[in-house]
Amino acid sequence: MLFRAAVSFLILALAMAADQAPENPTGCLTEVDLDIDYFPDKVFPQHSQLWEVEYHKTYKVVTNNNFPDQKYLLYLCGSEIPVGVGETLAIPIPIQSNGGYSITTTTAISHLELMEVDTFAKGYITSPEWIASNCFKDKIEAGDITTVPGAWSGEAIPESLKDLVTFLNPGSSYSVNLTYPIFVNEYLEKTNLAVGEWHKFYSAFFNTEKKANQDFDGMTQRYECVSHNAQSLSADSTKKKVIFGSWSDWSKAWSFGPCPNYYCDWVSDCGGEYLVNDSGFLDDAAFIEYAKDADILLWASHGPPYFNETYADKKEVLDQLKAVQNEMVFDSTKDGLNTWHEHRLVEFDVVLEDICSIISGTGLLPHQREFFRNVFTEEIGSVAECVDGESSFTLKADECVRIGEESSESSSAVRAMASLFSMGTFLWSMIA
Ligand SMILES: *[C@@H]1O[C@H](CO)[C@@H](O)[C@H](O)[C@H]1NC(C)=O
Ligand SMILES: *[C@@H]1O[C@H](CO)[C@@H](O)[C@H](O)[C@H]1NC(C)=O
Ligand SMILES: *[C@@H]1O[C@H](CO)[C@@H](O)[C@H](O)[C@H]1NC(C)=O
Repeated sequence: MLFRAAVSFLILALAMAADQAPENPTGCLTEVDLDIDYFPDKVFPQHSQLWEVEYHKTYKVVTNNNFPDQKYLLYLCGSEIPVGVGETLAIPIPIQSNGGYSITTTTAISHLELMEVDTFAKGYITSPEWIASNCFKDKIEAGDITTVPGAWSGEAIPESLKDLVTFLNPGSSYSVNLTYPIFVNEYLEKTNLAVGEWHKFYSAFFNTEKKANQDFDGMTQRYECVSHNAQSLSADSTKKKVIFGSWSDWSKAWSFGPCPNYYCDWVSDCGGEYLVNDSGFLDDAAFIEYAKDADILLWASHGPPYFNETYADKKEVLDQLKAVQNEMVFDSTKDGLNTWHEHRLVEFDVVLEDICSIISGTGLLPHQREFFRNVFTEEIGSVAECVDGESSFTLKADECVRIGEESSESSSAVRAMASLFSMGTFLWSMIA
């Protein structure tokens, strides 16, 4: 019985291997064999609600669930455009062998740098002043990337960019002037894992699914490990009360967001207590009432007004908060002014490490914070210089070892599978 199972498992494995390309193509096909699955590496959303990919042998169909008309038929360049797929925008992939692409927000940069396809960026359709990555800025400086600072106010999109795949916010009016606008709306997802998993969405356009899966698996494993450790360490102590928000110059009020949301997850995943208040905007008196007993204030204005500016205007209000009196106020400039929006989508596990180390105090979780800076005691940091021949972006996560880890079920399942497989190979060599 075991013999038959092992042999058929092996035959299945070999049969699957025979009909699959060794890896997702990084260039155009020169000949097409319709018996071959050209995408051995695939991505599927496990946390994201808002996108899907359906795989076929020479093409994939990507759907944005928020916008029913946003379906993208990604077919391998060198193959025929399949017919009968419906009203979908047909786009030849991989993009890197098809003229490159444009982006329109800083939030895309780290995803693309991590997958090492940033060298194929050709357009940055907005003003470049909020970019953190020095490698991306260097490419703009060198003229490899064209910027369109006034796109939002009607500046024409240059001809050289019109026909490139462009990743953009669904609200971008200028998308009518682009041939291949791709809507990216990860900000509508509700959890950190769901937001971060849009890494895989990008990969579908570049055939970099294998890397995207590795990257995302690493992020989620570290996230779960850090959360497990932080909660084990804080299990016996009073939960620290945390708030995440800031003063809004626009609304002239204090803005502290509702749950569920990604920042609520970070706090509870670290064993803290997020103080929920769903009123939306608060005036000074309501804000003091709400915030006065919080142990930790995470300042969520990632551009002007910075904490120093609000503190200068609203000292008498802020001084009534326990977190201010105890100098437990953190903004997101530890590694520079613009890293929050750009880095955190692929480093939500590092943000978690930061918040857990703040909540647990020093010593328990050794970690050098990368995002959150104590506004009273620490300096604003700066982004690493771009070094020729090195990756544009390197993850800064610490390796995480689970506290109290014994030999787990999953590793024994892997061992069982491995021994089944080697037995299959052995039996195969006897009968072949
Ligand atoms: C589209 O391009 C035309 C011609 O350049 C321009 O007049 C128009 O303002 C553009 N539309 C948007 C929404 O950018
Ligand atoms: C928010 O906090 C203010 C001040 O404590 C309070 O008056 C208000 O009822 C709270 N709103 C909700 C929805 O919790
Ligand atoms: C507050 O900090 C920001 C960021 O470093 C700086 O640009 C600004 O000049 C500071 N403002 C004041 C009033 O100190």
